[in-house]
Order: sequence, then C-alpha cells, then structure tokens
Amino acid sequence: MPYTDEQLAALVRGDSVHRDLYTDPAIFDLEMQRIYGRAWIYVGHESQVPKTGDYHTTRLGDQDVLMVRAADGRVHVLYNRCPHKGAKVVADGEGCAGKFFRCPYHAWTFKLDGSHLGVPLKQGLEGTSYDPADPSFSMRRLPRVESYRGFVFASQAAEGQALVDFLGGVRSSIDNLCDRSPVGEVEVAGGVFRVMQRSNWKVFYENLHDTMHARVTHESSYAAARDEAKEIGEMPLELHIMDGNGEPYEFWEKLELRAYDNGHGYMEGIFNPGAAERDPVSRAHFESLTAAYGEQRAREILGMNRHNTVIYGSGSPHTVFQQFRVIRPVAVDRTLIEIQTFRCKGAPEGVFKRAMLYANVINSPSSNVMPDDIELYNRCQEGNATRGGDWVSMHRYHGTDRVDADGMVSVNGTSELPMRNQFRAWKAYMEAGAGNGAAAAAKGDGACC
Ligand SMILES: [Fe+2]
Repeated sequence: MPYTDEQLAALVRGDSVHRDLYTDPAIFDLEMQRIYGRAWIYVGHESQVPKTGDYHTTRLGDQDVLMVRAADGRVHVLYNRCPHKGAKVVADGEGCAGKFFRCPYHAWTFKLDGSHLGVPLKQGLEGTSYDPADPSFSMRRLPRVESYRGFVFASQAAEGQALVDFLGGVRSSIDNLCDRSPVGEVEVAGGVFRVMQRSNWKVFYENLHDTMHARVTHESSYAAARDEAKEIGEMPLELHIMDGNGEPYEFWEKLELRAYDNGHGYMEGIFNPGAAERDPVSRAHFESLTAAYGEQRAREILGMNRHNTVIYGSGSPHTVFQQFRVIRPVAVDRTLIEIQTFRCKGAPEGVFKRAMLYANVINSPSSNVMPDDIELYNRCQEGNATRGGDWVSMHRYHGTDRVDADGMVSVNGTSELPMRNQFRAWKAYMEAGAGNGAAAAAKGDGACC
C-alpha cells in the first residue's frame, strides 16, 4: 500500500494540489479503484446500440466493458471477458452479436444479458463443478446500470447514490441537450472522433472551466480567425466560434461557474432569449420547438446559454452544440478523448450540421482549437515531471466561493472554483479507503432500460 489515507489527503490543499497527482502511476492505480471503481461513469448512448444484439465496447476506468441491447429492449453493460479462459469475447469496437455472444476461442456462448448459454461437447464437463447456473460461468454484468434520457451510466459499486442524485445540478445539462429536440431525444450521429492525449486525465477537466487560458492558449487560432474575417469581410459561424476565445478578460469575468458535489459543474453565460432567433438555423429550430412545446418553453430551451458542463469521471456534455467529450483515463500520462456529436431528433437538419461544424472546428483532432489545449496539457505533464516545484496553484478567488442551496457558485467567472471543487471530490473519493468498489463489483448484477 503505497499511500495511507492521510498521505493522500495531504496532497490536496484548499488552494493547490501536489504534482504527484498527475505523475505517480501508484496514484493512477488508486484512482481506478477508488474513483472509477465506485462512481457512476458514462458508458455510451442508447442510440449506439439501436437493435437487438448491437454492442459497443468501451473502457470504464481500467476495465474493458461492452454495452449491449437485449431482445427485450434492455441495455446491459458487461465486462468483456469470457469466464472460460478469460478472453475478450468481442473485439474493441461496435457490431451486432445476433441472438447471443460466442467466444471466438472455444465457442462458449452467452445470452445478451451475459448469462451462460452453452459450451461445445458438454459431456466433457459432466461430473465436474461446472454449473451453467453458477454466475461464475457467465459474462459478469456491472453491478449497477442506469440510463438518464438515453445516456447510459454504470457503476462498479453495488451500492451508492442513485444516478440522478449523483448527477445533481448537472442533470439539467443533459435535460437541455435533449430538450433541444422537439421529441425530447438525441442520438449519436456522424461518427465519433478519438484523440489520445499525452497527459493526465484530470488536466482536461480542469481546463473545461478555465476561462483564464482562452485568450492566451488560443491566441493563434482566434487571431487567424480575425484575420480571415477581415479578408473576406464577414464573420461566418466557423470563424465566430474560434473568435470567441479572444474575448477580453471582462467578458470571462461575467460568466457564472457552478460547482456541485462529486466534482461536477458547468459554465453559463447570461440567459439569452435572443438566441432563439439570431440566425436562420436558430429560427427554424425555434419554430420546431415552438410547435412541440409552445413559444415560451422554446425560448427557455434555446436561451439556456450553457458552455462546457463537467460530469466528473465521465466527461463534458456541451448543450448548445450537442457534443459529449468523453474522457477515458488510460495511464497516468495517457488520456483518450472520445468526441460524440448528437442529432436532435425531429429538429431541422441545419441544427445537426451546425453541431458537426462545431465538432470539426473546435473539438476534432484536426481542428484549429483543440491542438492548442493538447499542447498545453502535454507541457503540464512534462513540467510536473521535473523537480522544479511540487505544487500546482488554484489560488484565483480562493476563499470567496459562495455556497447556495444546491452547490457552490463563483463570485467571478475567472475563479478557479471548478478546479478546487474537482479536487474536493477527488479527495473524498480517494480518502474513503480501498476495496469497496472491488468488493461490490464481485457481486455483479445490473441492467437498465
Ligand atoms: Fe482551451
């Protein structure tokens, strides 16, 4: 046991954290047990497994799992392991298992809920303790699986908060994302981008609400956007969204940063009812929502001016442009980012095209903006590996965070409240002792939808 609870707690101060949190593989291993072994983690969206037998593999912390649609419509999340020799039952990616899973090694078969179906030459197992009804001969299900409006989360702990309570104040971000559809539903569409970053997973979360970096880190991209706009005599959307990072500090200071338990939070601008009609795509969107919900509600939905949301441990939904950047820790210095884009079902096609444009220009591996951040995350990783200092600062507006009925709120949009809140949650997870997640995972039973 490399760290006691006291030693772990000492790595997080109210205004700073120790660099070991980003560089020590032993810390990373503990995070996989104590955070990813316990918390609700986003697995994928139900629309990624639309038909019976459809599966989608992913990583939940350090575990290979798959999400599968069973014949009764339920979505299950299983560890991707055959109980015979331990082989991964399906290769990484997506596909359709048909009516059952069949391990490619010795053809053991499993129902779509993971339960044991059969083995070839069964007589060879007679008289042994092989028992098809014994769960240890099935593909193990994750202990808890729940879907919130199509977003499937799983927990490796058998007990804990319900998903809605875990999400708390950021549930409203998922609601707003779905409410932008006239039928209240979204689906993953247009493919998924994947980017492997050479940095620790926590740096990405910190950056999501780091308003002080925008006009510095992204200077090259917003300056190029401004030059281009000058040259062509207009500022189309693809340049406008790059230009935004160049707003003066006074702009960022006015944003509101909300922080909730479990490390979650979001960044919000002033409610903007005018957003509903500001351009032809928004107008058509507004009309489709007005027909479904009435004008006032449509204005509320499109007026919610929320930028990045943090669901700590899972990633960042973006409501206005319908993205989910899923953050998958791989190693202490490797993080896989999976960028999902959503179509609002029933909304005009222009809304989806705009979401794709945002994904390409801002978030994709070949965008003009994301590489700015990735370069800095890597510099943080490499700088924190030196003996140049032990502490990482989160001092900005420390001591001023306001507590209200359901969480905390910044006094200034440049506050480092979100980072402090994330590490408050980190400390709570990490101090709580080892073993709970692993013990709960061993019980293994869960399904949803
Ligand atoms: Fe950035």
